[in-house]
Amino acid sequence: LNLAVSSNEGNATSPLMYGMMFEASPIDINHSGDGGLYAELVKNRAFQGQSGSPTPDLDAYRAVGAASISIDTANPLSSALPHVMRVTPTDATITEQVGYLNTGYWGISVKPVVYTGSFYVKGAYSGTFTVSLRSDDGATVFAQKQIRSNSKADQWTKHGFTLNPSVAAPNVKNVFQVTYQPSKATGGSLLFSLTTLFPPTYHNRNNGLRVDIAQKLEAMKPRFLRWGGNNLEGNYLPYRWKWNETIGPLINRPGRQGTWSYENTDGLGLIEYMQVRRTWCDDMGLEPVLGIWAGFYLGGPVISQAELGVYVQDALNEIEFLTGPVTSTYGALRAKLGYPNPWKLNYVEIGNEDDLGGGLASYSSYRFQMFFDAIKATYPDMKIMSSNIRLSPIPKGAWLDYHVYTRPDEFIKLFNFFDNMDRGHPIMVGEYAYVQDNWPQGGGVDWAAPKAQFPTMIGSAAEAVFMIGMERNADLVKMVAYAPLLQNLDGYQWTPDLVSYTADPTDTVASASYYVQKLFGTNHGIVVLPVTSDEGFGPFYWSASTNDAGKYFLKIANYNGTDNSSVSFSVAGSTVTSAKLTTLSAPSPWSSNTPRSETTVWKETAVTRNSDGKFVFDVPSLTVAVLAV
Ligand code: AHR
Repeated sequence: LNLAVSSNEGNATSPLMYGMMFEASPIDINHSGDGGLYAELVKNRAFQGQSGSPTPDLDAYRAVGAASISIDTANPLSSALPHVMRVTPTDATITEQVGYLNTGYWGISVKPVVYTGSFYVKGAYSGTFTVSLRSDDGATVFAQKQIRSNSKADQWTKHGFTLNPSVAAPNVKNVFQVTYQPSKATGGSLLFSLTTLFPPTYHNRNNGLRVDIAQKLEAMKPRFLRWGGNNLEGNYLPYRWKWNETIGPLINRPGRQGTWSYENTDGLGLIEYMQVRRTWCDDMGLEPVLGIWAGFYLGGPVISQAELGVYVQDALNEIEFLTGPVTSTYGALRAKLGYPNPWKLNYVEIGNEDDLGGGLASYSSYRFQMFFDAIKATYPDMKIMSSNIRLSPIPKGAWLDYHVYTRPDEFIKLFNFFDNMDRGHPIMVGEYAYVQDNWPQGGGVDWAAPKAQFPTMIGSAAEAVFMIGMERNADLVKMVAYAPLLQNLDGYQWTPDLVSYTADPTDTVASASYYVQKLFGTNHGIVVLPVTSDEGFGPFYWSASTNDAGKYFLKIANYNGTDNSSVSFSVAGSTVTSAKLTTLSAPSPWSSNTPRSETTVWKETAVTRNSDGKFVFDVPSLTVAVLAV
């Protein structure tokens, strides 16, 4: 295959092209937020439960010493957090310590770093609390501290502390424990709530992100962050995502029953997302895409046209909260929470995949339009996206979001999908991924059949072909994001995912699809160039681009071709003699990366221009490559 690009033509690409779809708390799937990117180590910290029903429970807690623990509903910590835990000693006069422990999100990683925590207590106690990080069997104490207390019978007292283990624990079978001396508490029993414990976080943010996962994401060089997905909608009334219940002190955040069968703490809330922009933006250039609830619960009811105005106003309030001056009602609320400077918000999306239960009819006839008109009236420059590409009619200026989950061969068929599409409405491909292997009869996903456990090389190479197709249509397709992004291997609902992990950071594993994202995200041009070739597409698929530093990028994937696969590439007028070839491959089409076992091979080699002015290199079957000249 011989490929040549001209160095002075082409179409501008989108600066945002490769980004992230984040279905994490407050929009949580696969414990991608709680028990994932959100660094909180204490599970079920406010007894919201984990069962996916709004019933409080003591999941992840155990009593310590001669005591029992129970849910108490008569002593709310706050109106948002009505359920607390009572520790009741078997004998109020005993001098031995009693209390509770929390086993974390399937374990707690203990390292020689500073952990920061706090808990609330109610009950008359003049004594000390002992907080500790220890092995689950209690045999090893990694760090321990005494906290003096004079807590009162009729009010909640907050105690803060740090713990600094001097060594790492050998595994994550560890617990965080709080104990006290019952004989020094009036009646022996005490109430507890909102126990939190954080390791150092990404960029040392208070209430921040887990470092190893955040760093993996950063390394992909994503440009935007879409948050949405089914969890935006909620399974039924009243469990839609409510932005105003995810802001402010944790004590004011009720959490909610998530769509994906577990409770969300909303500890990672709207402001934390925007901080993602503030803290990551400087490093990663993330542009937020705000998902707005459109009046559909997944299991009904559907909010009618007559009732929708309230929710349209709620969306305006949310946007004002993020972007309004401190003199505005909701800008003032933001300032009161400690964030006087408004954020910049350029993109919003109305709903998520809104064709549920025949919903496309109402979405098209009035729903999208109501949000669109109201938002445009106040924010004329805002890009407003339909969550369904089949919206009809499409208001002038609207953007469209397209999602596709399919099989490898189907992605190859989608290579040309955008080629002849109307250019009137820019597109975000807000979710896409390979989910099942090819089957003999061809066709799309069988949703009743199991999905792939992890991305495979054939699936990831097919995604790369689809992405190359989108890059060639960069005048139309402005943003693309793989989904879902994250998966806790101890508690998930959807496979395959881009990055998987457990409580143990050494399990964190990036998939073959992750490496495709990284390959494309780190080699992004600003102008897509026309390429002349001596062969048509298949088994090779390619696109070429250039950036403002005068670098040229050839992205190329070999989908099920042969290994005898020499490619030559030349850039008209270029005198550069050395290029970097990065290839992603794997031992077999079905190879997957699993914890502590990465099978994909990321290889970087130098390629020298030959006397014909060409860079010649191999792209064997199921290899995805970028040549950077
Ligand atoms: O990414 C998983 C789910 O797939 C999302 O929640 C939803 O938007 C889509 O159907």
